[in-house]
Amino acid sequence: MSSLTRTKSVEGLLRQAADSKGLKRTLDAKNLVALGIGAIIGAGLFVRTAAASAEAAGAGVTLSFIVAAIGCAFAGLCYAEFASMIPIAGSAYTYAYCTMGELTAWTIGWALILEYALGAATVAIAWSEYLNKLMGGSIPYAWSHSPLQVSPDGVHGIFNAPALFILLVLTLLLIKGTEESAKANAVIVFVKVAIVVLFIGLGWKFINPANHVPYLIPEGTIGHEDFFKHGWGGVLRGAGIVFFAFIGFDAVSTAAQEAKRPERDMPVGIMGSLAVCTVLYVLFGHVLTGIANWQEFKIAGKEASVAYAIQKYMPGYEWLATLVTVAILAGFSSVILVMLLGQSRVFFSMANDGLLPKVFSELHPKYRTPYKSNLILFIFVGLIAILLPGDITGDLTSIGTLFAFVLVSVGVWIMRRSNPNLPRPFRTPLVPLVPILAVTICSAMIIGLDHITQITAFIWMLIGLVVYFVYSRSHSKLN
Ligand code: ALA
Repeated sequence: MSSLTRTKSVEGLLRQAADSKGLKRTLDAKNLVALGIGAIIGAGLFVRTAAASAEAAGAGVTLSFIVAAIGCAFAGLCYAEFASMIPIAGSAYTYAYCTMGELTAWTIGWALILEYALGAATVAIAWSEYLNKLMGGSIPYAWSHSPLQVSPDGVHGIFNAPALFILLVLTLLLIKGTEESAKANAVIVFVKVAIVVLFIGLGWKFINPANHVPYLIPEGTIGHEDFFKHGWGGVLRGAGIVFFAFIGFDAVSTAAQEAKRPERDMPVGIMGSLAVCTVLYVLFGHVLTGIANWQEFKIAGKEASVAYAIQKYMPGYEWLATLVTVAILAGFSSVILVMLLGQSRVFFSMANDGLLPKVFSELHPKYRTPYKSNLILFIFVGLIAILLPGDITGDLTSIGTLFAFVLVSVGVWIMRRSNPNLPRPFRTPLVPLVPILAVTICSAMIIGLDHITQITAFIWMLIGLVVYFVYSRSHSKLN
């Protein structure tokens, strides 16, 4: 076997996991659905919905949600098979190491940095926007925006201080090992879902049907000449943009070791949280684009769009805008926490395998958390969050995640052929049809994203290859 395609054996991995102190199997399907929703509902819904409708899909952002959900559902079924079969931290990276070899595993690990690290940065940037909204816009534009942004009245951003602040707080929390208990998570989930339902219920009366006509952006609308900026092409690009809102259901797979009955609870946890969120998202998109016209989200309401729509079009409900904002701030924090945690887990696995320096797997003597990794991550994510705008980081997060989904889906199929007899507590139905559909829809969303995102992601992956050949290949424990 060439060193690039060498794989880790699943049996060895499972033995290794069984040797280490076992995690307690305490989570049932309900807890897992709650965990999923906790990681899923965040900036994607509250910020990217407006961006997707302004940039590409118009009121048809509801259809974008459905397309993205279908892609996620197929990929989710593939995740569920791996999660029940290889219930070990590291998620997609670990699955790839067992199926497609070291180089592919490395590539996924590198793409997951886009998902988790940039995802955390994106939500931190959104957190900053909503904090500013809550404080009545009293944080100066310059100190709450990236140097690449200019306000409608010509003020340039310098650096996004609130985003850095929330990242620091959550990093310190992670280092201390303060885990969100299932209860605390349940409270945040309850608040988040309640707010979304409240917005849908109260906002419904304020829908102006004229805002939904035409439903898709017509050809010839200024600034929407490109195929992916109007009509069905726009729905597809919109799906790539709002795809961000679904990221996090894969986090359920990292808890596989703690599920009471992984063969049943994993698919229910993954698919259940997806289903709940899809229904909420479609209704939410319908109400938001009904209250305010998508054209407005091009400028005025792009940031903190929900609070904007409430304040402008729902007189008498200003309290709802405040409530929404407070709940969003809490909700975003849990998403950031899960993302930073996910990233440090992936780094931890990669460092244990020798593909990254040992510093990423060194544990704090007292708290037993990978504190050095958390601190390095804080610097990296913090720099991104203070310097880049949320659209750029959000789309990069989506592309990295979509790429990981594609590889996981291919992996399920490969594994069925290479190790047909391994026990599979949960089997993805209709292989290879489901993996093929997952790959097709996720690839279509990648193609629909804009060129700058695609090129940046490509450069990022090239840098990854250089790091692999210069460092990781020769340091791999498989040598
Ligand atoms: N799905 C998560 C969010 O929208 C990442 O914030």
